[in-house]
Amino acid sequence: MSAEEHLVAMLDELGRVSDEDGKLTRTFLSPAMRRANGLVGGWMREAGLTVREDAVGNLIGRSEGAGGRAMGAKTLLLGSHLDSVRDAGRFDGPLGVLLPFVALAELKRRGVMLPFAVEVLGFSEEEGVRFASAYLGSEGYAGKLKAATLALRDGAGVSVGDALKEFAGGTFALPKAAHRRGELLGYVEVHIEQGPVLEAKRLAVGVVSAIAGQSRFKLTWTGKAGHAGTTPMALRRDALAGAAEFTLAVEKLARGTAGLVATVGALTVSPGAANVIPGGVVHTLDVRHASDARRKAALLRLGKLAAVIARKRGLKVAWQRTQDNGAVACSPALTAQLTRSVEAVQGTSLSLVSGAGHDGVVMSALTPVAMLFVRCRDGLSHHPDEYASPRDLGIALRVMVDFLERMGQQHGP
Ligand code: HGY
Ligand code: MN
Ligand code: MN
Repeated sequence: MSAEEHLVAMLDELGRVSDEDGKLTRTFLSPAMRRANGLVGGWMREAGLTVREDAVGNLIGRSEGAGGRAMGAKTLLLGSHLDSVRDAGRFDGPLGVLLPFVALAELKRRGVMLPFAVEVLGFSEEEGVRFASAYLGSEGYAGKLKAATLALRDGAGVSVGDALKEFAGGTFALPKAAHRRGELLGYVEVHIEQGPVLEAKRLAVGVVSAIAGQSRFKLTWTGKAGHAGTTPMALRRDALAGAAEFTLAVEKLARGTAGLVATVGALTVSPGAANVIPGGVVHTLDVRHASDARRKAALLRLGKLAAVIARKRGLKVAWQRTQDNGAVACSPALTAQLTRSVEAVQGTSLSLVSGAGHDGVVMSALTPVAMLFVRCRDGLSHHPDEYASPRDLGIALRVMVDFLERMGQQHGP
């Protein structure tokens, strides 16, 4: 089996490890996440890595450099996330965890020893599905997990702190950064583009220049439940009608603002009966823009719109910020090195901004970051039909092997 076929086979097998029958859903600290860590950890060991799991459930496979753990030996971080959205595709995340150790095994087969260590990271939580706050895995690894985050609760009322204590089988303390900045050569993530640009340019891979900033909130609308048959329309304080008017206002603002995307992705209604006027609604809000100033201006505008709708309808609206990340520029040096490898393999490269968020946003606080994007069919992601071809995966694999060899020459004795 070729390295590319091995990668495809692992992606297919991992894509069947789910918390839900018939669809791929793998959320933070769930039973499927534990099974996924067991499966991928076994594959990492077969590739010759030593494997551990940290306090927030990140899977960490380590390959020492030629000099072993000699004093001053640096570490290159490669990775992505192993959690998924609901009813997900099998490439978003796992590609960036599996490809690096397939590349390392390829180098080993060629007898190439790197002069630095490599840690392959499978972050436990990037999507923010269970607690509406993304990047909990990389925040834990980078020592950026905040005490306030531990208080966030999931749909069953379980807090992040309780979930982590249960996962640890006892106590949980906020973790420190896994490495000091000076020990690291950088963090490089391979990820499907989740957009249409590479396909439009007929390229298999491209290099990311920056990752858009994003803000996420939980909004709670409070009105008054009542009898659907006897309450006159003029006397109602219908929380769902208010949230719906706001959702359309969000869409209208984003459609009318260049580069802005804004989404109400999840919404719950209470008490949730056909013959009861909705008294309460809780929904998420996800707002992104490559410019932090434009994103913040949009948030201000949305805050005002919500207040006007609430006043007009006799509702209360409360905002809870669950995530806020500024836009992150990728490291020019690492990106230039990655670009050389893309040009060596593909003949040409393309630089593009990522509208999707990635763990590099958090990891940039610890070390310089770079990203390799891989074409995905129709730019589709966060959907079971998400697909990257074996040919494109093979090209990405060759880029990673070339990149590691160049880094080895650059940081060799
Ligand atoms: O939501 C995102 O941008 C990423 O897929 N977590
Ligand atoms: Mn995703
Ligand atoms: Mn992802």
